[in-house]
Amino acid sequence: MKIQIAIQQRYSTRSYQNTAIASGVQAELQDHLASLKTGPLGSRIRLGLFAASEHDRSSLRGLGTYGFIRNPAGFIVGSVQASEHALEDYGYIMEQAILEATRLGLGTCWLGGSFTQSSFAEKIEKRDGEILPAVTAVGYPAPATRERDLFRRAARSDTRLPWQKLFFDSGFETVLTTENAGEYQLALEMVRVAPSASNRQPWRIVRKGQAWHFYCQRTPGYGKGSLVFNLLGLADLQRLDVGIAMCHFDLTNRELGLNGHWRVTDPGLPVPDEKSVYIATWDMDSRAV
Ligand SMILES: Cc1cc2nc3c(=O)[nH]c(=O)nc-3n(C[C@H](O)[C@H](O)[C@H](O)COP(=O)(O)O)c2cc1C
Repeated sequence: MKIQIAIQQRYSTRSYQNTAIASGVQAELQDHLASLKTGPLGSRIRLGLFAASEHDRSSLRGLGTYGFIRNPAGFIVGSVQASEHALEDYGYIMEQAILEATRLGLGTCWLGGSFTQSSFAEKIEKRDGEILPAVTAVGYPAPATRERDLFRRAARSDTRLPWQKLFFDSGFETVLTTENAGEYQLALEMVRVAPSASNRQPWRIVRKGQAWHFYCQRTPGYGKGSLVFNLLGLADLQRLDVGIAMCHFDLTNRELGLNGHWRVTDPGLPVPDEKSVYIATWDMDSRAV
């Protein structure tokens, strides 16, 4: 399955069939998780697939997640060495795992919460200096909700910000048109439809020359610094979201033969407000002639 199909098929599945994941599928997913070791900005990550216990299911609410997750067969749990770019790296790698699960016919739902001290940390045998910013519920989607979810998915493009609010040319003053995006149009569209915590879509991208600069435009009153996040000890979920956007951009480009690499060097462009911060830059690898 092409990455763009997996991206378009994925949606947050919140009700699952009461069925274990087939052992062959489990084995394939586990192999894939084992291959994902380092984020694009260098953080070391460990991921594992674990069957869901009754305690896991009932403990989710207390850990700061929202929504009700019914009957997940299991969880993809990960830990990352705390470092400057741990959250973007974790967002990128967990999303890569989610797209693989989608390819294998599984439903998933990101769950952001305070997992670092939870029973999920015991499953992954958390090591000193590691954090668990989120986990992912996984299993076969329940048929009754599937139709509703498919309907929701069809309406999803309406629940995402339009292109002109997200992508810019040379600086934040000028919108990047789809024509000017050229061969990057598909990758940008795959960023636009990406999942994000509370569907806030905090990613912004500025193309300047051959470079694509990624920013996080924080939602006022949400995430880092907000009272509710501090009380719950939640990770800065909007930085996970930017990692997810980086994943969709990078993987879609790669499939189109547009290979690139990541660096963190702030170009110093004027930003629209103090809520917008530079995260990382994607540069196209020089093409062989
Ligand atoms: C970092 C992150 C944390 C999330 N946490 C939760 C959560 O705690 N509970 C939940 O039901 N959905 C959660 N979601 C799912 C989002 O609500 C969902 O991706 C968004 O509303 C878009 O819908 P879609 O995934 O169906 O496209 C989370 C998503 C992300 C990326």
